[in-house]
Amino acid sequence: MTENENFESRLKGLTMPRHVAFIMDGNGRWAKARGLLRAAGHRAGVETVREVVRMSAQYGIEVITLYAFSTENWSRPESEVSALMGLFLSALEREIDELDRNGVKIRFLGDLSRLPAANRASAAAAVARTSGNTGLQLNLAINYGSRAEIVRAARAFAEKAAAGGLDPADLDEAAFSDALYTSGQPDPDLVVRTAGELRLSNFLLWQAAYAEFYATPVFWPDFSREEYAKALLAYAGRKRRFGGLETDNA
Ligand code: FPP
Repeated sequence: MTENENFESRLKGLTMPRHVAFIMDGNGRWAKARGLLRAAGHRAGVETVREVVRMSAQYGIEVITLYAFSTENWSRPESEVSALMGLFLSALEREIDELDRNGVKIRFLGDLSRLPAANRASAAAAVARTSGNTGLQLNLAINYGSRAEIVRAARAFAEKAAAGGLDPADLDEAAFSDALYTSGQPDPDLVVRTAGELRLSNFLLWQAAYAEFYATPVFWPDFSREEYAKALLAYAGRKRRFGGLETDNA
């Protein structure tokens, strides 16, 4: 048995998270360490995405969310932004058949209106095509920022209330959750961040209120099946309290 199989075999029978959210960091540093261009790091990152999607489906995880592009990422050099947009487009076009065949359902979190027209069209087509699927829910956060998401939901309620269609007293946590991009989905149980930083970076601030956080120094392109298994093992060993009494994951 290889070490990799060993890590994965230790997951059998353990409590899996229903929803895992990933902050995919370190593509640039991975490339730099190899004397490559940053775009090569992002391309290698796409391979990690494939494995993470596969493994999540294999372990019966219901939802994964990938933080692919934040509202702050527009401040990167124009050449990197367009390389990323091109990569999102080509990856989606290349993978959509296999994703659909495997029952994956795709949703985008974020304001897609600022994306190039080709990205918007391909995103809309992927959502429509997979809307009836019942397997892994794949959320792609693109031009996503959690504060913007929360303000958008608050504004929608304010507009409804101002028009007389909502009594402010009826706004509760469940109704608010339903107005977010993740409407109808379980909150993340586990947030994984690669490349060593210990920040949430404006990601799922509302939804991750009770999530377990797992950070690894490994760069995203090196986040292998084994590294994912380690994160899931760490999750299974956590004691979750939700502000109340302890519940044991193991
Ligand atoms: C972080 O690395 C990564 C990103 C900002 C983009 C992530 C994109 C991919 C992994 C491509 C695949 C995604 C999909 C949805 C197909 P960084 O550039 O911040 O790295 P650094 O911190 O080392 O500079």
